Amino acid sequence: MLYEMVTGRPPFLGDQLVGIISQHINTAPVAPSWHNPDLPRALENLILQLLAKTPEGRPESAAAVEEALAAIAASSSAMATRVAPQDSKSLARLAVDVFVGRTEEITALRARLNEAASGCGRLVMVVGEPGGGKTRLTEQAATYARLLGSRVLIGRCYEGEGAPAFWPWIQIIRNYVEECEKVSLAAVLGPGAPDIAQVVQEVRERLPNLPAAPSLEPEQARFRLFDSITTFLKSAAKAQALVLILDDLHWADRPSLLLLEFLARELKDTRLLVIGTYRDVELSRQHPLAQTLGELARQGLSERIMLRGLSKDDVAKFIEMTARVEAPEGLVTAVHLETEGNPFFINEVVRLLVSDGRLGRAETTTSWKIRIPEGVREVIGRRLDHLSEPCNRVLTMASVMGRDFTFDALEPLAEFLGDRLLELLDEAIAARVITEVPQTAGSYTFSHNLIRETLYDELSAARRVRLHRRIGEVLEKLYRSRVEPHLAELAYHFFQAAPGGDLKKAIDYAVRAAQFATRVLAYEEAAAHYDRALQALELAAKPDERRRCEMLLALGEAQARASNTANARETFERAASLARKLALPDQFARAALGIGSELAMGVRFGKVDALQVQLLEEALQLLGEGQSALRARVLAHLALVFYYSEQKRAELSRESVETARRVGDKPALLAALFSRCICLEGFEEANQRLAVATEIVQLAEQVGEREMALRGHFRRLREFLELGDLRAVDAELETYGRLAAELRQPRYLWLEPFGRSTRAFLEGRFEECERLARHALEIGQRAQDETAIVFFSTQMVTLRRVQGRFDELEPAIRGFVEKYPSIMGWRASLACIYSEMGRAEEAQKGLEELSSKNFKA
Ligand SMILES: Nc1ncnc2c1ncn2[C@@H]1O[C@H](COP(=O)(O)OP(=O)(O)O)[C@@H](O)[C@H]1O
Ligand SMILES: [Mg+2]
Repeated sequence: MLYEMVTGRPPFLGDQLVGIISQHINTAPVAPSWHNPDLPRALENLILQLLAKTPEGRPESAAAVEEALAAIAASSSAMATRVAPQDSKSLARLAVDVFVGRTEEITALRARLNEAASGCGRLVMVVGEPGGGKTRLTEQAATYARLLGSRVLIGRCYEGEGAPAFWPWIQIIRNYVEECEKVSLAAVLGPGAPDIAQVVQEVRERLPNLPAAPSLEPEQARFRLFDSITTFLKSAAKAQALVLILDDLHWADRPSLLLLEFLARELKDTRLLVIGTYRDVELSRQHPLAQTLGELARQGLSERIMLRGLSKDDVAKFIEMTARVEAPEGLVTAVHLETEGNPFFINEVVRLLVSDGRLGRAETTTSWKIRIPEGVREVIGRRLDHLSEPCNRVLTMASVMGRDFTFDALEPLAEFLGDRLLELLDEAIAARVITEVPQTAGSYTFSHNLIRETLYDELSAARRVRLHRRIGEVLEKLYRSRVEPHLAELAYHFFQAAPGGDLKKAIDYAVRAAQFATRVLAYEEAAAHYDRALQALELAAKPDERRRCEMLLALGEAQARASNTANARETFERAASLARKLALPDQFARAALGIGSELAMGVRFGKVDALQVQLLEEALQLLGEGQSALRARVLAHLALVFYYSEQKRAELSRESVETARRVGDKPALLAALFSRCICLEGFEEANQRLAVATEIVQLAEQVGEREMALRGHFRRLREFLELGDLRAVDAELETYGRLAAELRQPRYLWLEPFGRSTRAFLEGRFEECERLARHALEIGQRAQDETAIVFFSTQMVTLRRVQGRFDELEPAIRGFVEKYPSIMGWRASLACIYSEMGRAEEAQKGLEELSSKNFKA
């Protein structure tokens, strides 16, 4: 009833009696302030206590309630009688947590939260300028979500390069893991637990017996990681609706954004609401987030809530509720005009006016405009001027550490120790320039990043360099016992400090951070770290050329893993010329192999790339006649490049296998055999290919290359089909399906139903053939694998021909001829179909066209 009195509505609304009763039993009520924002906070808390589901949550007795109500009444009448705070402590008396306006935005979010809780998840972006109230709005949403009984997990992104890869996601998962019991944790994480543990250390700590994640090729490994995290979040949301808040996405690392894109595609029928926030003012087209937003928009996967400035009424309400004074019209107009309704700006202005003791003398001031600073930075500057000099010095130091900082890191740097330092920090807390991070002793955060930015920007370049260096050295000691999760942070500080001297540390930490990023599958971050390592190297008076060559190779590899093929190619080219100049044959060969590294996976073979041919041939020369694993690899690669000259590819691949056998290098032998198996296509005995495929499977299992083993099985499957050994085909299909399921790779998974579809075709079960082919296509498209549609179409062409359904076939094939003009097979099929349909003239024309080009594209 109390609830109804203050909000004008009962705590639970619903159409049916049963619904309302079940809400009373199961659901926490919505905070009354969502209906009536002017409600004093203490009263709100009391009401929520009274509505608590369990007796322990409720106030002890009626007397206790009465007492609490009396206290609230006393304080709110104090509020009405307008205090005029003028002493230096006045800031502390300001009401915090005032929230005004934003009715529409809250209504929209509330609707999304309700929908998500009932199984209709989605992604909502809250967009606005710095200080525009994005974070605050998500906090409001979080409160509402908790009251709905949903679980809220928050991941914040940080400015600068100090945060580890996947940082927002790590926070989210860590948060979940911390509050979860061990038994249910394993169940919720599911089979993806080892993959998640790769990135979130806490998972491994909680579940030490997890097996290691399988080693896969870069793209596959990452798919598996993303799939594991998505599956985990979806299944966690089944038990309790989840709200994920990703704050400040404009600072997110690229891998984190890719994961967001992945998750966004899967939200539809889940109880998962993802709320992201970002600043729209700083997004250039090259910004990583801009790419993600483009992708999300193309697929229609996100909606936006744009935050504009608060209205004049909101400003008035804000001033009155915060300062507990009646706001004169002139003041409200001036604040609204100058701040353009930016809540952060308004907040700071009000605090400044209070510190200046101006708000108390409200009526006497006539021209407010001149009292209000012109920009956000200026108001921050003036607010900081109110703090003592030592306090400012400490804050400046902290601003170089980042948005969050700790007492332990600060103390060795500041000129003040122990209690004195605490006092200075308290001074900043009282002014609400910083706040303590709850539940962590000695951790602080700037109350807004704009404050940190202002402090940092005031520093001269030379001072920044010095401070970064000192911070780097302190953190190095602090993190000594467990450096890995902090490598990105150390790399960041030493890189910023590099112009001041310690290049070795800048390079070493950058390389280590890159290696760590590679291990957690954050390839784009790895590339960025290598790039910085190279930049630091350039600063040396006499850069170490050999090291530069090694770093270029590593950079190229990271870029290739991130599917940034064009940049990888350029980097490998630079590495090759440097290796040539320095006469380093091994490095040269690695650069040559790097260009077109997708060949090593057997994709796009046969594409003749002049530069690649030239470099690989030069590599063979430079390596000389000596037998080495590297030579075997170069030969294997070259064989695939020459796929269209049968003689050459046969010789090269044979030599590759022989070389690898002689040097006894198993991984190289595996690469050689794989190339051999492809090179034997078409003109050799199926039995011979079968033998090679079998050896691939055995060897791959020995060295733990599960993906290669899978490919070997697929090859075996093909050969058994060709040999007509259907029993063996069935056995291979079983094995293949099982291994693909273990690896959870849609890229391979779809091939199993596809194989079964072919099997059905062979036995004349046409309907089943079609059904399975469609199923395979579905899975393949989820993996965004283009070959799936090509395979599907081929299958359907074959099927429709046998069924005599030419009419359906012709337009489809014509479409493929247009889409893949260089694949002669489609042109040939079209001519065949015309001939079978009795359209001789068109068939004739098609055939002539083909033969005039000598059956080549
Ligand atoms: N609707 C609002 N009413 C009152 N204060 C607000 C409101 N929105 C934001 N604020 C305050 O303004 C400041 C900046 O808001 P914040 O959410 O941190 O901005 P952003 O995340 O967009 O940079 C914070 O102190 C916040 O509490
Ligand atoms: Mg924010």
